[in-house]
Amino acid sequence: MAKLSRRRFLAAGLAATAIPLIGRPGLAQTADGFRVITLRPGEARLRGPGAASTPIWGYDGIVPGPTIRIRRGDEVKVRVVNRLAQPTAVHWHGLRLDNRMDGVPHLTQAPIAPDTSFDYRFTAPDAGTFWYHPHWHSGEQLDRGLYGLLIVDEEKPVEVDRDVALLLDDWRLDQSGLIHESFGNMHDAAHEGRYGNHLTANGVPSIEIPVATNERIRLRLVNVANARVMPVRIAGHAATVVAIDGQPAEPFLLDRSRVVLTPGGRCDVFVDATLAPGASADILVDTGREEVAVARLIYAAGAPKRTVSLGPIRALPSNPLPERMDFVGALKLDVPLEGGAMSAMMMGMMRGGAGMDPSRLWSMGGRVSAGHSGPPLFSVKRGRTVMLAIKNDTRFPHGMHVHGHHFRVLDALDDGWKPWWNDTVLILADRITRIAFVADNPGKWMLHCHMIEHQDAGMAAWFEVT
Ligand code: C2O
Ligand code: CU
Repeated sequence: MAKLSRRRFLAAGLAATAIPLIGRPGLAQTADGFRVITLRPGEARLRGPGAASTPIWGYDGIVPGPTIRIRRGDEVKVRVVNRLAQPTAVHWHGLRLDNRMDGVPHLTQAPIAPDTSFDYRFTAPDAGTFWYHPHWHSGEQLDRGLYGLLIVDEEKPVEVDRDVALLLDDWRLDQSGLIHESFGNMHDAAHEGRYGNHLTANGVPSIEIPVATNERIRLRLVNVANARVMPVRIAGHAATVVAIDGQPAEPFLLDRSRVVLTPGGRCDVFVDATLAPGASADILVDTGREEVAVARLIYAAGAPKRTVSLGPIRALPSNPLPERMDFVGALKLDVPLEGGAMSAMMMGMMRGGAGMDPSRLWSMGGRVSAGHSGPPLFSVKRGRTVMLAIKNDTRFPHGMHVHGHHFRVLDALDDGWKPWWNDTVLILADRITRIAFVADNPGKWMLHCHMIEHQDAGMAAWFEVT
């Protein structure tokens, strides 16, 4: 079996997905070493090369925005220039970074006003798959196409032949292919959030991924949709999970090669290309009504890459996460999620006769969040373990996201560790999910539903690590 060279890994890179890359030496930077990313309107071929393009908002005017790719421990220096007509801020989803760089207006920074810029500068402590997106008017800004991939490479290259990222999105387009202007409407906010009618991977309806027989492919799946929960299936192949929400997991085989991605969530899987030369197989998203192919593995007709697949899949090198948690001295808190359609909270508002306020439909920990302000849900000394029992008392699923930390999901029925960490977890209706993390990153951090319309309508809170 041929040993793979580092050069080869890098060459395979993300080129297959046609995502523009930044972060490579030699690309344009300011004199002080910042890569400039500009938010501006653009056009995207969301419906494929044969249909008219769609006006979008993008980082550098493209969807997805430029991929930032660095090595673990490297510094990211990005100057974000806002050429939109509304303020913004950039959140680096899943990064356990310096709180001042977390991109939450009014909590960690002032919003970036139109025609101004903000310098983000932080080191990436963990290798893995992350992404960036706005944390201001997110219902509209994220939906119009403001998102990009952030890859932090392992110190030593991982043994794969191909490294492909799929940023999966769900657009609400009208007949002429324009983005529906129905932002902030009461119905979306009170139900599942803004679901769309058109799926894309990396901004196009379907990506072709060229492969060769007996290659090993790393697929980085990212759900960047506002609200759609996406079951993703890799047809015809076994798929082994190696990382969840950026953090390495003990490798395990996916049941029926299917993984459910909550908005904001990521999953890295290794797939051995076991089909014959010339074959093809789809990667599909289940909409509940049908499975839609968003990508296709297309096998080269020629000779296989090697005569047999590579050996067993080994775990990725671990990141510096806490090795133990003290549950005895933990801060324990119940966090009920309430509100939404068919809830006592909304019935009360209706009976009150004052009309419904579309920004106050959900609550978390007993409070409706007013933007990012108000008192913290809790305050904790650095190093203490936090255990939250998040109770979904609503009719809808919620994808709860914690900033600046990764947490463990505690199972109600067994006390073993799941072999993974999360930064976003899906909590189904009428369920309690208990999570635990070591509050080891000082600052003010958000905790919110990543169904963006829920977040914007009150399902958000913040906590402080002192
Ligand atoms: Cu990906 Cu607070 O968000
Ligand atoms: Cu929610």
